[in-house]
Amino acid sequence: MQRRQLIQTAGLTALALSMSLASAQDSNKFKIGLILPMTGQQASTGRQIEAAARLYMAQNGDTVAGKKIELIVKDDVATPDVTKRLAQELIVNDKVNVIAGFGVTPAALAAAPLATQSKTPQVVMAAATSSITEASPYIVRSSFTLPQVSVAMGDWAPKNGVKSVVTLVADYGPGNDAEKFFTERFQLNGGKVVEKLRVPLRNPDFAPFLQKVRDLKPDALFVFVPSGAGAAVMKQFLERGMDKAGIRMIATGDVTDDDQLNDMGDGALGVVTSHHYSAAHPSPTNKKFVEAFQKANPKMRPNFMAVGGYDGMRVIYEALKATKGQGGGDALLAAMKGQIFESPRGPVYIDAQTRDIVQDVYLRKVEKKDGQLYNVEFDVIKGVKDPGKAK
Ligand code: DHB
Repeated sequence: MQRRQLIQTAGLTALALSMSLASAQDSNKFKIGLILPMTGQQASTGRQIEAAARLYMAQNGDTVAGKKIELIVKDDVATPDVTKRLAQELIVNDKVNVIAGFGVTPAALAAAPLATQSKTPQVVMAAATSSITEASPYIVRSSFTLPQVSVAMGDWAPKNGVKSVVTLVADYGPGNDAEKFFTERFQLNGGKVVEKLRVPLRNPDFAPFLQKVRDLKPDALFVFVPSGAGAAVMKQFLERGMDKAGIRMIATGDVTDDDQLNDMGDGALGVVTSHHYSAAHPSPTNKKFVEAFQKANPKMRPNFMAVGGYDGMRVIYEALKATKGQGGGDALLAAMKGQIFESPRGPVYIDAQTRDIVQDVYLRKVEKKDGQLYNVEFDVIKGVKDPGKAK
């Protein structure tokens, strides 16, 4: 009797021990669900962010505060229905600690209610419509906003011989933000916006729009299109001889995207843009970042998407460290707010009130350096908060 009891107790203890080992093993993991467009029109965004996230992990180790970091990458093809399903699966089945990525605004917005319901921090590494951070109190952004970078161009252009402008933007959140905030500031400075044109996001044909711009003959055309679409705009702009007709191109840096710039040809030389990151940013931190990125990915040059991914991983790692691996979603979120650090783009911080990134915005001109085209910075506006939040 006694002996049987003893054996039973020992058996149960072994079972309990193995169960607690299993859950300890799982609780020794920290899972990041990275939802990105890996195929389709926005695929370069996914490629850049995944490469940067893996670089961050290679440089900083895959164990933080005693937890083994697991990166789960999912392709949403920049389609919000898919984003939503993947976010749900990652949160419910995989029990991820954080969701991250989000290549386009509709994808970031589709996941926001799930982040709220499950109290899972959502780190937006790419999407850049101002209002995104207001869609969930669990959103933290490591990319930028279109108002943040467009206002700088509205100040620069009228001081540099541009008195009349036609705007041409992709017709969705970030394009509408770029149009609104550029136009308001440009007009405030005495500039005239002759016409506002919007092109569809999917498979845009720029030809009829550019013909219209040619006929209107403004001093400059202001452009926003998302990462990956810039080369097509540039090609058609040059093919139509717009520059020779005396129309300058000015844009947000999404157009002279480092992922594509070097293939745009010398016609891109001299184009002035405003943005928060250039691969040519002359800081030691950025030089190290670009070198390491290119060593790990020999055919790529990191762009602003890569930096959003790299810094987003930093925000997650540091939050995990600060909470000593013990915190849930709310504790992690609290530890993400207010982080201050030196990014490859320059000094940044996560505004504790808005959960949005505050950063320097640069004016840059396309120039040739060592036989390659780069966005060379020539002016800086320090510590720019998202102007979209001030309203
Ligand atoms: C968005 C996507 C981009 O590729 C970009 O350059 C800027 C904004 C977006 O959908 O929010």
